Amino acid sequence: MIAKLGRLVASLPIPRHLRDGVEAAFVVVAPERHLKTDELLALANQHQPDGILMSLGMPMRAEHIAQLPASVRVLATTSVGYDHIDIAAANARGIVVCNTPDVLTDATADTHMLLLLGAARCAKAHVRNMDGGWKIRNGFFQGLGVDVTGKTMGIVGMGRIGRAVADRARGFRMPILYHNRNRLSPDLEAGARYFPSLDEMLPHCQVLSLNLPGGQGVLMTRERFAQLPKGAIFVNSARGSLVDEEALVEALKSGHLGSAGLDVFQKEPNFDTRLNDLENTFLLPHVGSATIETRTAMAELAIDGIVAVLSGRTPDNVVQA
Ligand code: DGY
Repeated sequence: MIAKLGRLVASLPIPRHLRDGVEAAFVVVAPERHLKTDELLALANQHQPDGILMSLGMPMRAEHIAQLPASVRVLATTSVGYDHIDIAAANARGIVVCNTPDVLTDATADTHMLLLLGAARCAKAHVRNMDGGWKIRNGFFQGLGVDVTGKTMGIVGMGRIGRAVADRARGFRMPILYHNRNRLSPDLEAGARYFPSLDEMLPHCQVLSLNLPGGQGVLMTRERFAQLPKGAIFVNSARGSLVDEEALVEALKSGHLGSAGLDVFQKEPNFDTRLNDLENTFLLPHVGSATIETRTAMAELAIDGIVAVLSGRTPDNVVQA
């Protein structure tokens, strides 16, 4: 029998099709449902694991890291974002943190385009009409959205997901502008126009697309929404923490923003329902990466990270503070 690499505690159920592989590598303690942080900490203290597999909706702040047992050497999150984890606090305790980059890029960019199209084409009202048995017969000039084709898209955050969104938007013949900490090389830019200043880019964006990591404070303030052209479409599949939602609601109500497509919110799942009450929004419940293929690949990558660390290797998906 091959020796196991150690003990693994998971905060989420591990599906059947992954279970055999995980159990071949570890002694596994996995729950039947998603745990809250306190429940995970209790389980970890009970079972003294070497590795922890956790997911996005679970904060792991410094005070939580301090409560992990000394046995923990690696913590892997099944998400590319890691703003829910205090990386510095984990590293200070010698705990390696891994995430799941790359494998969710396409699924997330696809969802981003769904948000854009849903917002631009009043999808919420049309779906509601069909759910109600098509009782509203739209006249020729009723229920109209706006074209997406040919509109100028400004992308904030031109990393892997931002570039995948740009690729898709080019298919809609959308000129691409971008703001990023650093300018990309010409091959990655692929004709997109770089703006070192976000404030200078905003007035040119008929569509504004957020594709940057969270954990860097509020980027879209009242002042910044005001800089967008009237009727602009706002799309966020990155993090709700980047947006002043009060200002977003105001801009949507006043009609300054034409519409918004949102997959992420300041508070999840207890989001500000005024956003849903507005007719000019199209909302999804943080499902950017939610496909069978992608979620499977994310779980595998997170588990591979734990395997690597417990085998004495440094995986590619280690997150640095
Ligand atoms: C992530 O993995 O950080 C994404 O938000 C999932 O949709």
